[in-house]
Amino acid sequence: MEEFISTEESAELINESKKYTFFPWSKQGAVNPELIEKAEGVYFYTATGKKFLDFASQLVNMNIGHGNQRVTKAIVKQMEKLAFVCPALFTTKVRGEVGRKIAEVTPGNLTKTFFTLGGAEAVENAMKIARWYTGKQKILTQYRSYHGATHGAIAAGGDPRNQAVYQNLMPNIVHFEGPFPYRCPWGGKTEEESKDLALQHLERIIQFEGPNTIAAIMLEGESGTSGCVNFPKGYWKGVKALTEKYNILTIADEVMSGFGRAGKWFGIENHDVVPDMLVFAKGITAGYLPLGGVVVSDKVSAYFDNNPLTTGLTHYAHPVCLAAANEVLDIYKDDKIIENAREMGKYVESRVEALAEKHPSIGIFRNRGLLGCIELVKNRDNKDPMAPWNATPPEMEIMSKVSAKIKECGVYGMVRWNWIFVAPPLIVTKGQIDEGLDAISKGIAIADEYCY
Ligand SMILES: Cc1ncc(COP(=O)(O)O)c(C=O)c1O
Repeated sequence: MEEFISTEESAELINESKKYTFFPWSKQGAVNPELIEKAEGVYFYTATGKKFLDFASQLVNMNIGHGNQRVTKAIVKQMEKLAFVCPALFTTKVRGEVGRKIAEVTPGNLTKTFFTLGGAEAVENAMKIARWYTGKQKILTQYRSYHGATHGAIAAGGDPRNQAVYQNLMPNIVHFEGPFPYRCPWGGKTEEESKDLALQHLERIIQFEGPNTIAAIMLEGESGTSGCVNFPKGYWKGVKALTEKYNILTIADEVMSGFGRAGKWFGIENHDVVPDMLVFAKGITAGYLPLGGVVVSDKVSAYFDNNPLTTGLTHYAHPVCLAAANEVLDIYKDDKIIENAREMGKYVESRVEALAEKHPSIGIFRNRGLLGCIELVKNRDNKDPMAPWNATPPEMEIMSKVSAKIKECGVYGMVRWNWIFVAPPLIVTKGQIDEGLDAISKGIAIADEYCY
């Protein structure tokens, strides 16, 4: 028999969290969290016994699903032997092992890793490395991108969440527009046109800013929270060609799109490009412990053989976090998780295609692997969005109802503006996808009422 607590007891515990801890990205008075007690596979449970299907892998990081006891055992085993050593003077077996495994799964000649505790820190260090290596200062990134919430990383992202700290952003970041075939800002009618116009725009920005001032161009390996825009075929290749022409480094931010999420080990492999640096986090430990890093090419790493790498972190290469990563990397292979992500991604695409016939508000579904986003519109011809980009709370009225319905049906899905994300753990089955999409369909039915 399961032991659940009463609603009153749960409310008291939630209040304690609200009273003594902050909740990210929110007005503290408006947060309404559930108290989660346990999780297994693709499901998690509140302390009062409510069951949810996790259709967002929490923060698109629980790639191998919840409660995998192989990871628990690996963590405990490392913890029993050694929790921590000074990372500058000592090393551990697990550090070399995970470094080697990352070099093996990343594309091309990306071979040497600088470890961090999360994505934003990894982005910060990638930008520092690019600046040291090139002796140049500017980093070019897309408006439609998110790279984390620390000082430099939030500046690097073009996501409007950086506007809250706009006056104090890190200098020497220059934003540009990426290709967005569904809403091409330059009027391109096809993916190909949208890609070409975006590359011409980027080249103009490089020329205006001055190639001699630009250290790196950073793009997500595959677009994530900015609406899974899906870089058109040839776009990443075109960016790489521009960086080679103008002697600029490339950084692929694979924090969200890495470790199978986009159907390959890394999203950029869908584009057949090897960047100079690749940033990762989330999927490296699939949420079991915090870890991130930036892995750099032989060329970049060789520079630091005779130049100091003047950066470090107390918890750098933390042995226990690395033990989690070591096991998770094996699980991706042993359980054929990335193959499953590819196969289930195709299934999701076929199912959403069928839903689009029933729901006039589905404008488009963009997906790669299991990193997908349904975009809702009021009118398919003029693409009037169900909620605008960077919507205010009143503008979210319809989408909030959609979101509430999905939750009421027992599915946790990420809704942002007029987008509903589809990003379940990569171990998901067809039956579980049906369950998640049935709930999403019930939510979308509410939006259909507003179509004209
Ligand atoms: C592409 C990308 N980069 C960086 C980050 C920041 O990672 P973290 O939250 O671990 O700092 C995220 C987080 O969602 C992300 O999606």
